[in-house]
Amino acid sequence: MITFETAHAYLSEDVKSYQKEVTRLHEQLMNKTGKGSDYVGWVEWPNAYDKEEFARIKKAAAVIAKQCDVFLVCGIGGSYLGARAAIETINGLYADKQPEVIFIGNTFSSTYIMQVLNYIKDKEVVVNVISKSGTTTETALAFRLLKQFMEKKYGKAEAAKRIYATTDKNKGTLKTIADKEGYETFAIPDDIGGRFSVITAVGLLPIAVAGIDIDALMEGTRKAYQDLADPNLEKNPAYAYAVARRILEKQGKCAEMLVSYEFQMSSFAEWWKQLFGESEGKDGRGILPCSAVFSTDLHSLGQFIQDGNKMLFETLLMVDKPQQDMIFPEDKDNADGMNYLAGKSLDYVNKMACKGTLEAHEITGKVPNLMITIPELNAESFGYVCYFFFRAVAMSVYLQDSNPFDQPGVEVYKKNMFRLLGKN
Ligand code: PA5
Repeated sequence: MITFETAHAYLSEDVKSYQKEVTRLHEQLMNKTGKGSDYVGWVEWPNAYDKEEFARIKKAAAVIAKQCDVFLVCGIGGSYLGARAAIETINGLYADKQPEVIFIGNTFSSTYIMQVLNYIKDKEVVVNVISKSGTTTETALAFRLLKQFMEKKYGKAEAAKRIYATTDKNKGTLKTIADKEGYETFAIPDDIGGRFSVITAVGLLPIAVAGIDIDALMEGTRKAYQDLADPNLEKNPAYAYAVARRILEKQGKCAEMLVSYEFQMSSFAEWWKQLFGESEGKDGRGILPCSAVFSTDLHSLGQFIQDGNKMLFETLLMVDKPQQDMIFPEDKDNADGMNYLAGKSLDYVNKMACKGTLEAHEITGKVPNLMITIPELNAESFGYVCYFFFRAVAMSVYLQDSNPFDQPGVEVYKKNMFRLLGKN
């Protein structure tokens, strides 16, 4: 379903020379003997997910979709990026779908929070608060405001029916609040970290509320699981991609730009940045994940990529078949000089922009390009590509000899912030 092309000519080593190491690390991942193996629940999740809870998610989503104008997802990091990525990638940026999904609990910006509260005040609202730990400050702060808003608007009993909590199955502050108030809850599995949780209730409830087929999404993860079962680098594009990244890092490439030619994939890139940045940026190592949408950003970052510091490589995330397309029309006067495009499809123009840019960056600019191609943007391919990147990041970080599944560095800002805010 996905094809991967390494920039062979630009790699100083043969990807296949890593086969022995990749096979050893693959076995560690599958046998749960590698670093951070308490958090590899996502590996088997495409087959092992809780079917009873999955049915409950679909049922709740159908109720919620009828009940509200705005569905508020209150979470940060792994507790919102996946859902946002799926909704925007699959539905597009201007989908005429009800309810509208708005993300909150992901910032301390007083302006943003108050704009959201103001926007929803006369609308029918349902809230999904999502936090594995239950104590994340951005989320807890927003949720207190939302809880008070909901109770004032609907009364305590009705508010409780309109608030759903996705959190730890048994413990934590949010679980305690949910049980006390009588909210319906969904579980975040103990052995799946936030950035791998889009295929659990964390992502699936908001995605289903947005009208996306979550059966198809899970089918995509299952297909990826099957396709990536063999560690053979000639058959496993996720592992080949992981190896190519490490080779490029050895060549001094310390930044990877995920490039898409589809605006609706901007949030997908944000999700990918968390997945790779949080998994790999440790032990003084890692490749900085950054992103761009072309040709748009060629008009801002293009100069740097073409002629600037040669620190980066690009990973193109291409889509074979666009969701929508049209033929560019002819104009009798041709005052704009655009008739040379008449009769060509807009997607053809986009693809030619890609071809020309690839040539400019790789051949002229000596910026290596890896290329991942997805047939089309839909629920199944979204599930597939998420699982593809899960496997790729696990292998990349194991090849770096780090733990892909922890994020100790994230705590440092929190400690300082708590001290400054006077938290005990
Ligand atoms: O990937 C991670 O672990 C983080 O980004 C978390 O997802 C994020 O901090 C939110 O954590 P929680 O779900 O506990 O509120």
